[in-house]
Amino acid sequence: MITILGKNSQLAQCLIKKIKCPINILSSNEIDFRDYNNIEVVLSKFSNKIIINCFAFNDVEDAESNQDAYKINHIGLEKVAKFCAKNNIVLIHISTDFIFDGNKGHYIETDPANPINHYGKSKALGELSIQKYCRKYIILRTSWLYSHLETKNNFLFKIKTLALEDKKDLFGAEDIVGSPTSSLSLADGIYKLLESIDTYDFSLKLFHFSDLGSVSRFTFLEEIVKKLNLKFNLSNSVHPTQNSYFNLIAPRPYNTSLNSSLFSETFNFRSQDWKKALNKTIELL
Ligand SMILES: NC(=O)c1ccc[n+]([C@@H]2O[C@H](COP(=O)([O-])OP(=O)(O)OC[C@H]3O[C@@H](n4cnc5c(N)ncnc54)[C@H](OP(=O)(O)O)[C@@H]3O)[C@@H](O)[C@H]2O)c1
Repeated sequence: MITILGKNSQLAQCLIKKIKCPINILSSNEIDFRDYNNIEVVLSKFSNKIIINCFAFNDVEDAESNQDAYKINHIGLEKVAKFCAKNNIVLIHISTDFIFDGNKGHYIETDPANPINHYGKSKALGELSIQKYCRKYIILRTSWLYSHLETKNNFLFKIKTLALEDKKDLFGAEDIVGSPTSSLSLADGIYKLLESIDTYDFSLKLFHFSDLGSVSRFTFLEEIVKKLNLKFNLSNSVHPTQNSYFNLIAPRPYNTSLNSSLFSETFNFRSQDWKKALNKTIELL
């Protein structure tokens, strides 16, 4: 049996459309990761072989002052990791490009983590807990995750909401670079991984996963708005700016683009170009 945690996340919603075998899928109503004592109690109700963790405290700005980021992304996750270790369950966990400082770009799995904001720090600590306690795990670090769904931490949905007001001036930072990743692509990747999990030897347990390409926020925004304007017959404009324009609380890493070759080679997965992946997602809007 597979259990998916983080029911209403954009990733889990894409994943459940793909997985054909029986699954349990739990939301924060059923399992709250701040309620440490209850985590094992809830998970023990199911005979799990694999747990896929899509939950996270994902609000980068709020994480600068809200201790829930550490409670959920580190301590709550550590409880899940210990439960998996004790019960010989495979843990598949999603982490983030924000564990890097952004000074390098095109990051590979052996590059050292050096987060510069609290969201990144909490996620990096979560990775360490899994590595400390679990034997059979896969950590997939992804970046700039978006989908066709109406979810909070979803750049495409945010831009669609603004764009539908029409004739808007939208601004994108030229000095923030990363690898956009469609939740549909990541769900495809996890599905491919699940197909080989029974025979996998876990010699490699940490992977990067993004769609192919490395672009600025401005370029990503420009492409999104071009397609939304066409699809919905709108006339929004896009302008380049700098990250400082947005007056954000949390420092943002400059270039966190990921190199995902190791995942593709290990699991024989064909990655998609980011523009193609974006097209497919926009078709679903
Ligand atoms: N969004 C991005 O740009 C991005 C980038 C890189 C990496 N990631 C990583 O990718 C993974 C999936 O992200 P996503 O964007 O799909 O997530 P999302 O849509 O923001 O959803 C977050 C999920 O976390 C759950 N959650 C929040 N607080 C919780 C708590 N106290 N106890 C239990 N569950 C709680 C929510 O519960 P409910 O199901 O009850 O709503 C929700 O399912 C995360 O690990 C994230 O760190 C995301």
